[in-house]
Order: sequence, then structure tokens, then C-alpha cells
Amino acid sequence: MQRTTTCGALTKADNGKTVILNGWVHRDRNHGALHFINLRDRYGITQVVVDDDASSELVETAKQLHLEYCIAVKGTVRLRPESMVNKDMPTGEIEVKAEQIQILSKCAPLPFMIDDDEHVPNEDIRLRYRYLDLRSKGMQERIRLRHEFVHSIRDYLCGQGFYEIETPTLVRKTPEGARDFVVPSRLWPGKFYALPQSPQLYKQLLMVGGMDKYFQIARCYRDEDARGDRQLEFTQLDVEMSFVHRDDVLDMMEKCMRHVFKEVVHYELPEHFRRIKWYDSMNIYGCDKPDLRFGVEMKDLNDLVSRSSFQVYKDLVAAKGSVKGICVPKNEHQEFTRKYIDSLNEVAKTYKAHGIAWTKVGAGNTLSGGCAKYFAGLEAELISLFGAKEGDLIVLLADAKWKVCCTALGAVRTQVGKDLKLAKPHTFAFCWIIDFPLFEFNEDEGHWEAAHHMFSMPQVEYIPNMEKDPGAVIGDLYDMVCNGYECASGSIRIHDIELQKRVFAICNYPEEKAQKAFGFLLEAFKYGPPPHGGIAPGIDRLVMIVSEQTSIHEVIAFPKNTVGVCSMDNSPSELEPENLKELHINVVMPEEKKN
Ligand code: AMO
Repeated sequence: MQRTTTCGALTKADNGKTVILNGWVHRDRNHGALHFINLRDRYGITQVVVDDDASSELVETAKQLHLEYCIAVKGTVRLRPESMVNKDMPTGEIEVKAEQIQILSKCAPLPFMIDDDEHVPNEDIRLRYRYLDLRSKGMQERIRLRHEFVHSIRDYLCGQGFYEIETPTLVRKTPEGARDFVVPSRLWPGKFYALPQSPQLYKQLLMVGGMDKYFQIARCYRDEDARGDRQLEFTQLDVEMSFVHRDDVLDMMEKCMRHVFKEVVHYELPEHFRRIKWYDSMNIYGCDKPDLRFGVEMKDLNDLVSRSSFQVYKDLVAAKGSVKGICVPKNEHQEFTRKYIDSLNEVAKTYKAHGIAWTKVGAGNTLSGGCAKYFAGLEAELISLFGAKEGDLIVLLADAKWKVCCTALGAVRTQVGKDLKLAKPHTFAFCWIIDFPLFEFNEDEGHWEAAHHMFSMPQVEYIPNMEKDPGAVIGDLYDMVCNGYECASGSIRIHDIELQKRVFAICNYPEEKAQKAFGFLLEAFKYGPPPHGGIAPGIDRLVMIVSEQTSIHEVIAFPKNTVGVCSMDNSPSELEPENLKELHINVVMPEEKKN
């Protein structure tokens, strides 16, 4: 009873054919004389009918069936009666009149029904029985999409002369930003491998090795808190190219994305993505991953406020602080009630701001409520600055620090975008964020560190005086952003030993420490390294965006849950004492984890 076709293939052209189908019982309706079975496999669903003239043996077998039994059906394709035609299904014009049914395997009582819109299982149950969840239409569709996405990327890059090269996943622990997962060495007591946070150094060494254009669909591991768009292990499309400038990398990635989106998503991306300098992105959208599916741009209000009677804000401006505002459009999804405005205030506070000020736009250039009174005589100017209309809400935010003002109001902008459903659906708004600062000050540890990673090139004009004001140095860095998510990061790399040592030193890696951590890279850079640069889009995140999901769990076959546990196999798990001994490991349980 091996299948001759799949459950998604039969059409009215097959009328009269004898076929064998294999699959799972998706739905089972027994109307006494007539018994309908919806048989499902990866390719679709076909309706099977046990007719009133069926043999008693066939009727008996059909009666034993339950949901998700795996079965084989032999039968004849016939046209459905006109009234039973289902135009929504590719196989909706036919059914298979069963002649023989064989149960291939039974199914235990189900923890949840597959594709039951009325009883959607919670995520924990879905992950515990992921193999059942994978049978659902949504997961099947997304796993297919992911497969096609990766396949199309591979096709494109291979066609452009890139080599696909694997780099090791047992590597030396090197500081890269997040915590490493480590693997104890049995042969070398007390020594550990690390799992790569990304193939960064290896891909640079491949360039030193003359590989010119490399890519890899690379598994990366980072011991950090899992969130909606983060996993402990995830997949990058890792790319590196020799003898390139920034624009060569951006052009290549735009072409690659255009190709993949056209082929797989059937979506036409623009030839070039908008490029926004980091400073402008912070200033206008309040973040470095703006959602460009909607406007609500932030405006600078320092000048206007200093002419108003809003004393607290005026004082902040006088003390070189920042005041910014956004105009939230009147809409049908969200009324601007006191409660709603308070909720926006809370959002601002979580980003270290003191809170927001607000006012509503009335008819004929008037303002009402909130801080309206402070803008007497300036109403028309404030309204026209935003192009605001009657019923709109103007939200203002001030802070002594420009960055706090931007990020807090940016968070309010993002929240408003969600609440008011401002983002156009089925739209992929890509942009590049360029010209990032190279260094960030780590307040906790009291030293500078790399904003991206320590191998990125400072822009040439900043090189001579880098040490004097690290905070002012702009790097040859770029992020690819789509719909409010950072989906790729990259940079032109340093290929000069002395410059690399200077960057290490600024990041608290003086010569000896740098030599210990990155000696192999510095050694390689002695042997004619080419200028090079690259980028790494996150595959999970891109597929999540494309499938319009908000959690990467939805596009990973077997993800870890939000506390880093696989609910299905219960990893991580303890080792047996003899395993620990073999690995020379003595486990010291922290107090709070005992029992
Ligand atoms: P970065 O650390 O920015 O850069 O990572 C690149 C992209 O990988 C994705 N990503 C993640 N996806 C899921 N879960 C995570 N925990 C996670 N962390 C990152 C994001 C991100 O944009 N070596 C550099 C790249 C380079 O310079 O070429 C790197 O790894 O989409």
C-alpha cells in the first residue's frame, strides 16, 4: 500500500484513476452510511469516502480510525457532487472512493487537535509535542518557507561565485559580546572549547586564506536571555568578501534579498534600500532599527519650547537637554483617553525618561488639554510643524540626555505604531542603518567597548585621533533593518595589525591581553591580509518577518523555550557521575538551585 500520489495532487483530471494515498486522518466524519475521512500529508488534504456499498471489512476498518492515525487508502478518484465542491482546496473538486484501508500506525489520545482554530494549544504544550505541532498547516507552511528561503540564498550566492565553506563549531573562547556556551575537553583536563557566537574570526581568516568570497548557513550559539526574536542557538547567513568597500557589501546583500524575496515571497523589493545614518535614525525614529512601515517621525522642539512658557522643559533646553515630539494620528483603533496616555507615559518611563507631556489638537489651530496652556500663541507653529489635524495627539518628551530623549520617545512611537495598527500589512520596509559609533562606554565596567565587535574598521578620518575621543569615532558599520527588526549586521574589517591593536587597547585589551585572546588573528595579519568586509543576516529573524510572525519559535523546528529549555527532550540535563568524572568536572550547585 505504498502511495502512488500525494494528498495534495489529485484534480478532476484524475477522475477515474485508481490511486493509493498515505497520510494522517485529519478529520473523520461518520454519517452512518457514508464515512468521510480527510486524509492529510505535507502536500495537502484529500477527502476519502467510504460509500454505502463498501464491503463490511472496509466499513469495520474505517470505524476503527481516529484522528492522526497513519493510514494507507486505495481507491478510485471521482468528481464530488456539485454541492460538495470546495473551491478553497486544490483537491476540492474530487474525492477518493475507498476500496481498501490499511492502518499503518495508531495514534494515542491527542494532547491537542491539529489545526483546531477554536482550541489553540498553549506554547508549552506545542513545544512539548513539537512533532505533532509540526503537522499543523502553519508550521508546515513556515518550515517550507524557511527551506525555500535558504535554498534560494544558496542558489543566488553560488551563482555569484561565493564558496560555501564550513567553519568549526568547537572553537577557542573569544570575547564577542554575549556569553559563550562551553564544551569541556575530555582529553585536556581543565580545558574547554567554546561554541561559536558567530564564525567571525574564521571568516576573516578565510579571507587571509585567499577564499575571496565566502558564505555559510552557520549555526551560532549565545548564552543570553531568550526573547521573542532571540534564541540560544540560531542560524546566520554568514558572508565575507575580499577587496570590497562598504557599498559593495550593501549592493550584494540588496541583490541577494531582492532575488530571494522575488523568488520565494513573490514580493518586489526596491533596487536600493534607504540608507539612514545612525544619528539620524536615533533623532527621527528614536532607535537604530526603525519600523518604516509608518511615519510618526520625531521632531526637534528645542527651539519652539524655548519660546514657550513650559518652564521645566525650557530649563532642560537651557541646560543643553533635548525636547522632542511626535504627532499620533486620530484613528479608529485607539481613543486618546487618559488611561491610554498614562500607558504611553509608562512606556517612556521604562526607558529612563521622567515621562511624557501631551496635548490634543482641536479645530482651527487650537490645542486643548495637557500642556496646551504653555504654548499660547505658538499653537499654529506647533501644529504645522507636525502637519497635525484635528483629533491628533501631540506627545512631547524632554530629557537632559539626547539619547534618553530619543530612545524613550522612540519606544512611545513603536508602541503607538502597534496600538494604532499603523504599519501597512504585507509590507517589507527594508533600510540600512550606517555610520554607527564604533565604541560605546560600558558604565558598569568603566571602559570603552566595541559597539559591534572589535574587528570593525573606524572611518579613516577618525583614525588619527581615535584614542582622544573614542565616543566620537564613527565606524564602517552597517545594519540591515526590516519592519523594526535588526536582521543583519556587518562591517568593513580592520586588516592592519597596528590599527587592530589600537582598537583592542581602547576596548580594554592592552597588548598582552589582546595577544592572549586574539594572538592567532594578529599572527595571521602578518601575512598579507586583504582588505575585507562582510555581513551576517539572521535567517530565523528574516523568515519570522517574512512569515509575519512575532516570535522566532514559529520558524524553528525545535526551538528552546524562553528559559532556554527544550520542553520535549528536557535539555539541558544532568550528567551521570561517571560522565562528569571522565570530563574532570566537579559541579558546585549554587545555593538557590539546591533542590
Ligand atoms: P550580530 O551579532 O549582529 O553580528 O548578528 C547578526 C545577526 O544575527 C541575528 N542574531 C540572532 N538571531 C536569533 N537569536 C539570537 N540570539 C541572535 N543574535 C543575533 C540577527 C543579527 O542581526 N559576526 C557578526 C556579523 C558580521 O560582522 O559579519 C555578528 O554575528 O539577525
